[in-house]
Amino acid sequence: MKICVYGGSFNPPHVGHIAAARAALEQLSPDKMLVIPERAAPHKDMPEDSPEPEQRFELTRLSFGDIPCIEVSDMELRREGKSYTADTLRGLLELYPEAQIYLLLGTDMLCTFEQWRDFEWILQNARLAAVARDVGESGKISDAAGALSKKYGARVEVIDAPALPASSTDVRDALRRGCGRELMHPSAYEYVIQHRLYGAKPQREWLREQAYAMLKPQRIPHVRGVEEEAERLARRWGTDAEKAAEAGILHDITKKLDLNQQLILCEKYGIITDKLERTNEKLLHAKTGAAVARGRFGVCDEVYEAIKWHTTGKPDMSMPEKILYMADYIEPTRDFDGVERLRALAYENIDAAMELGLRMSLEDVASRGQQPHENSAAALEWYAAKNHRE
Ligand SMILES: [Fe+2]
Ligand SMILES: [Fe+2]
Repeated sequence: MKICVYGGSFNPPHVGHIAAARAALEQLSPDKMLVIPERAAPHKDMPEDSPEPEQRFELTRLSFGDIPCIEVSDMELRREGKSYTADTLRGLLELYPEAQIYLLLGTDMLCTFEQWRDFEWILQNARLAAVARDVGESGKISDAAGALSKKYGARVEVIDAPALPASSTDVRDALRRGCGRELMHPSAYEYVIQHRLYGAKPQREWLREQAYAMLKPQRIPHVRGVEEEAERLARRWGTDAEKAAEAGILHDITKKLDLNQQLILCEKYGIITDKLERTNEKLLHAKTGAAVARGRFGVCDEVYEAIKWHTTGKPDMSMPEKILYMADYIEPTRDFDGVERLRALAYENIDAAMELGLRMSLEDVASRGQQPHENSAAALEWYAAKNHRE
């Protein structure tokens, strides 16, 4: 039995790791490949903002889980302290005494192999498979492999893989800048955003794709408009434009669901509803939308609250809440009597715009013979009083 062992911190696992694993599978044709995220690297500390070991395991599972022959193992994560390859190899040889084991490693690892704990014992009991990390590293690999063979009788196979396009450090930096999506497996990227690992911000285009897939197609221009308008308003009123855009993109993600589906989400996320909401999916979509935005896309409290209040409003709203409420009302595709006045006012005096918007909205509800939500009525009263005082 031939087993290829691919260990690393996988912090996070990226397309370079996946390419290396695929190349090794192709070249070595092992019966299985064990991908083993380490608990703690022997020679370096994990960066401070690293996720929990369980989350790195999950990221690794999502990144490699769909490749046949690959098994992601938590054996090093379950072991306390530093993760030494020699300990892992001993454990594997106990489990598979007859196995021929290959250790898949990158150039850096190969070049520093003599610093590994019990490296001579490792070389007697396993073969190495070295994969280049960058273009032009193959010379370095052959030199290091040649030296190890000569000195210790190491058996080293060189894997011809496409050069790894990124390091985990690059990927972490990209994620923090709202990029990096193409550097990761799609499911792992989704997980990173869901849990906002590494301080990641969602890539704008990715978030749009995810949100639009949850909408009726005819609603997409509106949502696009809310994103733009919210960003503009945020710049005008000095709040975070990125978060305002995020709230805009996600604000209607549960809007197409019927009342029953909305109520299922309320149950799932423990959303408390009032009597009027329980009979009105139009009102419910704000609360369920906020819950799904947080549950699935990891939005911060500011974005969560803005989505939650975007339909009814409430007294004394925060600036991000007012911005989403107004953006939803006045975005460029909106066309109703008085929209121009409301648009201008939103940039001049946002509290006056809130009062006007709430008044128009309540009149609209009344004209349809519907019951207004108490939060909207209270909000109008609050903004009218505030504006009167000023
Ligand atoms: Fe909405
Ligand atoms: Fe909307």
